[in-house]
Amino acid sequence: MFGWLAARLGLALTYDAVRVPSDGLADFLEEARAGRWDGLSVTIPHKQNALVLADRSDPRAARTGAANCLVRGTDGRLVAHNTDMEGIVRALAHHGVSLGHARVLLLGAGGAARAAAAAAREAGAGRLWIANRHPTRSLDLARAFEGEAVPLTSEALATVLPGAEVVLQATSVGLDAPGDSPLPPGCVLHERLTVMDMVYRPLRTRLLRDAGAAGARTIDGLWMLVFQGLAALRLWTGVEVAPDVAPALHEHLAEAG
Ligand SMILES: NC(=O)c1ccc[n+]([C@@H]2O[C@H](COP(=O)([O-])OP(=O)(O)OC[C@H]3O[C@@H](n4cnc5c(N)ncnc54)[C@H](OP(=O)(O)O)[C@@H]3O)[C@@H](O)[C@H]2O)c1
Repeated sequence: MFGWLAARLGLALTYDAVRVPSDGLADFLEEARAGRWDGLSVTIPHKQNALVLADRSDPRAARTGAANCLVRGTDGRLVAHNTDMEGIVRALAHHGVSLGHARVLLLGAGGAARAAAAAAREAGAGRLWIANRHPTRSLDLARAFEGEAVPLTSEALATVLPGAEVVLQATSVGLDAPGDSPLPPGCVLHERLTVMDMVYRPLRTRLLRDAGAAGARTIDGLWMLVFQGLAALRLWTGVEVAPDVAPALHEHLAEAG
């Protein structure tokens, strides 16, 4: 993604993948403070620790309890950000959907779901139902973001889905498993729904195929990846890209598989 963006925008930017052991983040961040890196993307299992170990945090990162992007300031200090919230909101906006006043069903209660719940609250969602495999986690998330935990069963979801407008799929179900759906058998989707799946491998997950067959609007997980990446690029470089860049990047990533 960032190699493609650097070439397209003519930026002198190098971006490397570095494996950091689970107990090695503090030392690695010292190297960043010393100037080895101007910015970092952070992924599993370091997102929570990155927030703790950074020198400052953006309010959105603090709200989600995790950082997926660090920026080195001119003073060498590291500021923690969470660009997943922006990724979710802008992916929806690109498809003409807003979470403001929307009736939202969130599937999952992990890190990505937390960003989604925070985004829904910040946008002023009308209802926020949260369903997760382990109900204690959906109860915790619902408590933190004034949502309503619902069991991940077809009976419970049958009372929620008919009135829902947006489904945000933030479990890892479907990842590398094109036949798996996070919804229990018997759940009925409908054409007034927008369904966004955060899983992007495969691009057309079982959930998106089922939603498309029901006439719903579907948004694949690459859109969130693209928009959270563009947010990181802006934080690192100050570059705000033209509107045609996101769809071109989405097309490039979809073709690259
Ligand atoms: N598109 C993007 O830019 C983007 C960004 C971030 C994440 N993601 C994707 O979003 C997904 C979640 O990421 P995360 O960071 O939130 O992971 P996480 O913190 O590990 O959370 C995983 C979630 O998936 C649920 N889950 C896992 N296996 C399940 C199963 N067999 N049945 C039902 N639920 C199951 C977990 O439920 P329990 O709590 O019950 O275990 C939990 O809610 C991943 O696929 C990730 O690749 C995409």
